[in-house]
Amino acid sequence: MDSSDFFGLCAGRSSVREYDDEPVTDDEIGYVLKCAGTAPSAGNLEAWDVVVVRDDETKEALSEAAFSQEHIRLAPVVLAVCANYVRSMSRYGERGILYGLEDATIACTYMMLAAHSRGLVTCWTGAFDDEAVREVLDLPQHSRPVSLLAVGKGHAPAQHTERMSIGEHVHRDTW
Ligand SMILES: Cc1cc2nc3c(=O)[nH]c(=O)nc-3n(C[C@H](O)[C@H](O)[C@H](O)COP(=O)(O)O)c2cc1C
Repeated sequence: MDSSDFFGLCAGRSSVREYDDEPVTDDEIGYVLKCAGTAPSAGNLEAWDVVVVRDDETKEALSEAAFSQEHIRLAPVVLAVCANYVRSMSRYGERGILYGLEDATIACTYMMLAAHSRGLVTCWTGAFDDEAVREVLDLPQHSRPVSLLAVGKGHAPAQHTERMSIGEHVHRDTW
């Protein structure tokens, strides 16, 4: 794959919050997770975990925890991606808090793009009550939920989202 293909993959993705009835297979989720397993991580500690949620009651409860966001309830699968502070902090102490969040974020990004590459649609969801998600999923204290990635199939027209010009982000040599 050349770099223009990768740009096409990235630019062709957008958040989708409505889904067809068509199920997402275990094989498709397996592919998404396998790709996440290739993500880089601080010290190669892979300080992230994911809870694969298909159960309707659990998705309903997660939707409530996410301030009643409908797409969490509607998605066939929700991937709850969490930082694992035991893994990151055992080696890096306080710095491990940042590394755990980074590891989980990168893993979730890989999942999102891998899903898109297989024709699935996703919506990264970060607005939720941490404690409520923790309770719904029975997460241990050393785990922090970072993203609820809604995954489905759908043809809802993507909402066009503008971006800043890249020059507004980029500084050369110093700020
Ligand atoms: C950290 C983060 C948190 C987000 N939280 C939510 C959310 O809670 N609900 C939602 O509908 N979309 C959420 N999104 C999706 C963004 O709204 C979306 O990525 C952004 O508007 C750009 O649109 P696009 O993904 O279609 O390119 C989140 C995205 C990120 C990266």
